[in-house]
Amino acid sequence: MLDKTSEHSLQLPDPVRFRDVSLTINRQELIANINCTLEHTGVSVVMGPNGAGKSLFLRLLAGLLKPTSGTITGSYINAKPGTTSSLSMVFQDPVLLRRTAHANIAYVLHQQKCPEEQLAEKVGNALKTARLERQRETPARRLSGGEQQRLALARALVVRPAILLLDEATASLDPASTHIVEGMAADAAATGTKIIFVTHDVRQAKRVGDDILFIHEGRLLTHKSIHDFFRDPGSKEAQAYLDGRVPE
Ligand SMILES: Nc1ncnc2c1ncn2[C@@H]1O[C@H](COP(=O)(O)OP(=O)(O)OP(=O)(O)O)[C@@H](O)[C@H]1O
Ligand SMILES: [Mg+2]
Repeated sequence: MLDKTSEHSLQLPDPVRFRDVSLTINRQELIANINCTLEHTGVSVVMGPNGAGKSLFLRLLAGLLKPTSGTITGSYINAKPGTTSSLSMVFQDPVLLRRTAHANIAYVLHQQKCPEEQLAEKVGNALKTARLERQRETPARRLSGGEQQRLALARALVVRPAILLLDEATASLDPASTHIVEGMAADAAATGTKIIFVTHDVRQAKRVGDDILFIHEGRLLTHKSIHDFFRDPGSKEAQAYLDGRVPE
């Protein structure tokens, strides 16, 4: 008889694990001995002052940088780009192709070898979730900043990646676009994409996050549930950050 438990656990991706991860560039230790486990579901928020190492943390996670020492593991690491076991990333400044909004999304689906008969519907749905139906034939670079960001996110999500990294993706967006982006991220999380969300916006962290990692000077000072973090930030550095002060 099949063992239901092991059958199920085989389908779950491994969590992302950082073990003693450090990154030194030009003799400067920019990431210092980070240990953490990120579960394969939910929204993990990353916070910390400017220059703390949040973007470096994401770049290490994405494999764009190799740690000087330590290891990073997870099922996504050997996945083919653009597949459902892979990782996608959206930055503060979206990187788009010099083509229409529609073509930007179709391009990713083509790469994924999406059957032609499914393409129109998938592109249509993606544009709809990003509220860009009217802009479908607009060249991506003519879109407003917020529209470009929504397109970048729709494109990242169309392959239904295992992990989505958002690095201050709503930093220059108005409240309406921010709301749309948060909704897209929440929908993706609800259908199984792990979201890692870097933000400086405390209210946003509370709205979107399940757990929070607080990074300061390259060190991971705290990793706890959002609820626990805002009751007890766990360090004077995190408290100072929340109060808008420079820690003493
Ligand atoms: N290639 C590099 N060479 C040298 N220093 C670097 C390099 N990349 C990043 N740094 C430094 O590492 C530190 C962390 O940078 P990082 O971009 O991760 O900060 P951050 O937490 O994302 O900040 P912000 O909130 O401003 O985006 C910064 O002091 C930065 O100057
Ligand atoms: Mg950054």
